[in-house]
Amino acid sequence: DAQDLEKGTYPFYMLKEIDEQPAVLRTLINAYIQDGAYHIDADLLQAIQAADHLYIIACGTSYNAGWIGKKLLENWANIPTDVYLASEFAYDMPLLSARPFFIFLSQSGETADSRQALVEVNCMGAPSLTITNVKGSTLSREASYTLLLHAGPEIAVASTKAYTAQISVMALLAAALGNIPIQEIARDLGIVASTMESILAEKSRIQGWADSNLMETRNAFYIGRTSDYYVSMEAALKLKEISYIQTEAFAAGELKHGTIALIEEGTPVLALITDPVTGSHTRGNLEETKARGAQTMVISMEDTARDGDDFVIQSVRSELRPLVSVVVTQLIAYYTALGRGLDVDKPRNLAKSVTVE
Ligand code: G6P
Repeated sequence: DAQDLEKGTYPFYMLKEIDEQPAVLRTLINAYIQDGAYHIDADLLQAIQAADHLYIIACGTSYNAGWIGKKLLENWANIPTDVYLASEFAYDMPLLSARPFFIFLSQSGETADSRQALVEVNCMGAPSLTITNVKGSTLSREASYTLLLHAGPEIAVASTKAYTAQISVMALLAAALGNIPIQEIARDLGIVASTMESILAEKSRIQGWADSNLMETRNAFYIGRTSDYYVSMEAALKLKEISYIQTEAFAAGELKHGTIALIEEGTPVLALITDPVTGSHTRGNLEETKARGAQTMVISMEDTARDGDDFVIQSVRSELRPLVSVVVTQLIAYYTALGRGLDVDKPRNLAKSVTVE
């Protein structure tokens, strides 16, 4: 059918969509920066600036992107931000601030759990923004404002380019709110796009690691601190949903408070170490798992790397590191599912868009 034609020579949509990420990022830079200025609705910026607290609401991969968005909005726009699972928020609402603003993240714009939360928000009469890939989708129509992901159709059930597009849009939004100089953000996002490309050029190395370490295991762990922890949440979701390996993400410092009991001879533990401040702590935690037999892997950056790290990424601006480290983990998930002979694009029991609560 028409969809299969679009896949071209790719064996699966997921790989095609992973490869599209640098181009999507460049499209977003051109969509949201024009004529040397941020190209974002002034009313939207004003509505957010009038708020005293931002609430990000989403499900699945979009929820994981929300945590990176929280850091960007707090660091650059200086507005306190929290992240909620839509399915919990609608029925267990936190005590809200005096002037809340709600941000809905949804690739499809049709997720029932997110929509239910938006219905509640609209009942309160509060302002909202939907960040979505689908123009005219339900969440877009029902929110006060929309920002588009411009990522093109995402077909694989496991979301990849929508995650990085959501983070990129939130970065541009936070930069506009925080008056980050245009040249600076355009340059730094451009560096991210080319760094993504250099990771994509090393697929066979990542495939090799997956083939030698993740073919037999029944469980695996991702660990990291600060933003590396948030990326670990997405990395673990990606691996578990398409390879069926039970994969959990843990804040590295929390391992010793319980999880380390699960480490056995050969258990894969993958550490994300892109944060210079906490990197050495995470290394210490990783060593403790190694001493108990874990099969470890380190993904680091030039300025956090040590000899022997498995994958060292070129350095990019600190707040934007999730955009590149996640690409390594997407490829790990992809090649693990491929190596295990699974249907990468259509994992069992999952749907691309879930329109029931
Ligand atoms: C489904 C998909 C996930 C997705 C989630 C939220 O569960 O399988 O990949 O992250 O829905 O979807 P949304 O379209 O709201 O981002």
